[in-house]
Amino acid sequence: MWSATALLSGVAVTLAGVTVGAAAVLPDDEPSPAALHLERATPLRELAAPHDLRIGASVQHTALAVDEDYRRVLLHDFDTITLENELKWAEVHPRPGVFALDRAEEVVDFATANGLRVRGHTLVWHQQNPPWLERARLGRDQAIELLRTHIETVVGSFRGRVAEWDVVNEPIDPSGRGLRDTLWRQMIGDDYLSIAFGLAHEADPEARLFLNDYDATSDGAVFDALIDLADELRRGGVPVHGVGFQLHLDGPVDVDRLARQVARAGRSGLTVAFTEVDDRLADGAGAAAALRQARRIAGVAGVCVAEPACRAFVLWGLGDAYSWVPNAFPGYGAATLFDHQLEPKPAYHVLAEVLRTSGDGAASPVRSGGGR
Ligand code: XIL
Repeated sequence: MWSATALLSGVAVTLAGVTVGAAAVLPDDEPSPAALHLERATPLRELAAPHDLRIGASVQHTALAVDEDYRRVLLHDFDTITLENELKWAEVHPRPGVFALDRAEEVVDFATANGLRVRGHTLVWHQQNPPWLERARLGRDQAIELLRTHIETVVGSFRGRVAEWDVVNEPIDPSGRGLRDTLWRQMIGDDYLSIAFGLAHEADPEARLFLNDYDATSDGAVFDALIDLADELRRGGVPVHGVGFQLHLDGPVDVDRLARQVARAGRSGLTVAFTEVDDRLADGAGAAAALRQARRIAGVAGVCVAEPACRAFVLWGLGDAYSWVPNAFPGYGAATLFDHQLEPKPAYHVLAEVLRTSGDGAASPVRSGGGR
């Protein structure tokens, strides 16, 4: 579809054009809002670096291929990406024994060529599975063999290029009590977790391996349970390195509780990543709602900056045009930091401000754990 090299040279030319004056490259074009932003703003990744914090965005293959502003904003502001869909089972394992890794390869190539760290998402999940897997109902041994083939192939293909994996996504029951009853748990048993982590570790011993989940309860129970689960697995010698908190926000956040949870994970020796940050607003919500959104984003970013265990702050969707929210939550949208033209919104500016002003990043103690 597109080659990383062609893409890369296009970006280089355009970015140079912005720096020395867009007119030199694009004589007849008005600079886009995104291009104006690039001229003005200090990159988020530069503001985050003194805190030893990675700033990421989820990335979609199609957007990367067709939208030049998307590529430019990505490379300007971010140092980390998560592949939003391209590594999920339905995409990479469409039929039994058939792997389709081309689209993921192209995104990872682009990231590697541009020095972006890559989060792999995800190896075991109860959603976005191909129909054949949903129907499979395998016995335990067969299911373990299938998982082995999948993880060896997918993680093995990106060994050394994907720095960390969400090995198991959403393992906790939404109530916060116990494990979610997924097809993998039904086929294998509770040790599907330790088996999946063991296989991922074998396939890439350097990769940092995460449990990832969201918390829809009002009392923090899912994140508490996620940290408990990671602790329990680690006590059993399972190579779990971190927990991912998705943070798809839809209202006020208890930042004190979130900070306590991150700190607790850190005391257990876990790295924390905020893996899928967005904040959905009801359609038609006005400027005041955008400001409340900005305050919520500032709140969670403040936690990540202040807590040494938190090493990555990844936004879900680079711009409202590419957000999952309108599909997943009809009547809601505007959940990302950039509008439909990729112009930064108030939430972007407060995030930059939090990164710029919080603590004394440069002088903060050297953080332990983390990735490569
Ligand atoms: C979403 C993607 O953003 C959409 O494009 C896709 O149609 C559905 O999945 N939690 C997760 C992500 O872990 O994988 C989901 O991503 C959003 C919720």
